Amino acid sequence: MKRLWDKGEPLDQRVLRYTAGEDHILDARLVPYDVRASIAHATMLCAQNLLSKDDLKAIEIGLNALAESHAAGDWSISLDDEDCHTALERHLTDAIGEAGKRVHLGRSRNDQVLTALRLYMLDAATELEAAADKVAEALTALGERQADVALPGYTHMQHGMPSSVRLWAAGFAAELNDDATGLAGAKRRISKNPLGSAAGYGTPGLNIDREHTRAALGFDIVHEPVTAVQLSRGKAEAGLIFELVMLMQDLGKLSADLMLFYTQEFAYVTLPENMTTGSSIMPQKRNPDVLELVRGATATVNAALHEVLGICTKLGSGYQRDLQRIKPALFRAIDTSLASAEIMAVLIGGLRFVPENIKLDASIHAAEQANKLVTVEGISFREAYLRVAAELNKESNNK
Ligand code: ARG
Repeated sequence: MKRLWDKGEPLDQRVLRYTAGEDHILDARLVPYDVRASIAHATMLCAQNLLSKDDLKAIEIGLNALAESHAAGDWSISLDDEDCHTALERHLTDAIGEAGKRVHLGRSRNDQVLTALRLYMLDAATELEAAADKVAEALTALGERQADVALPGYTHMQHGMPSSVRLWAAGFAAELNDDATGLAGAKRRISKNPLGSAAGYGTPGLNIDREHTRAALGFDIVHEPVTAVQLSRGKAEAGLIFELVMLMQDLGKLSADLMLFYTQEFAYVTLPENMTTGSSIMPQKRNPDVLELVRGATATVNAALHEVLGICTKLGSGYQRDLQRIKPALFRAIDTSLASAEIMAVLIGGLRFVPENIKLDASIHAAEQANKLVTVEGISFREAYLRVAAELNKESNNK
């Protein structure tokens, strides 16, 4: 018996390869979470007198050892195993015998995969929050290092009003902190215990305790009723990826500004040599590839959101294998966003504005002059605006 649903008939290898897809590779990151969930599940079974204390002990020791040896690289999920759930149960049964076969009472891979995914997503969201806050911290530090360096404030990419490195950096920092708050908010949909919903319709004839596993795993609530659980697959994922889209948009805009500032024409900023890349043919080149790839990564994360929404949109209720295809998009969005935020924090740490190269157009104070006319002379803003415009016009005609 190779797979959890194996009843002895051979499976066409081509069907196995297609249906397992990338799962045996992707599921590697779910192993520690599936172990945690299985131990919580077995502990609950024992408390409900559905598993002996000895079996529980053996299961706990066996699963913890498997998590450790997996992390050490001693084994990996094989295609034959299909996914992490099958691989863990097979290895556990190999290691501890009969007790390993008792752990799957009152659950299905359908609630198992959701539990592992949600535990993983909660950790990932926390890591991403910290990464977003770190970019914000790097920007705040840059704003403080070069607080007094003046920058043109642009609208329509034209000089609008005076700004500064501090103000420019503070805007991005505030939005990145807000992105971190958004990621924390995404946990609301994630933090619901799917365990005990089993295949999607509960565990008839079995007295299991869903509150027990909720408390053990630290979920906020038990996901109820059982039929809601599979309906929700993809929603927590989409919610999290949406927040990543917001984060990536801010990192993309930051990149766009910096790429402009880094052109020879602007030369507002310099980057340390070790943060730029070169050209194979043009010896002088120092390219801002990091910024270009962060900008490009916004498309990857946007696409992941569309992919997840698209997979779920026309599904009816209950588990369907389509849902498995959410995983690659989810992991891609998380990995891409995390790596982008981490490298941006490093790059901002090495960034320096060059005050000599930043020239503000004299007319940039026009709005301020109009405001002053209103306060000093008591005229309307419209009149002040026209007077300053006329003054500027005269000056440029005299040039
Ligand atoms: N790899 C599967 C997924 O991610 C696990 C659940 C399989 N369940 C099933 N009934 N075939 O959806």
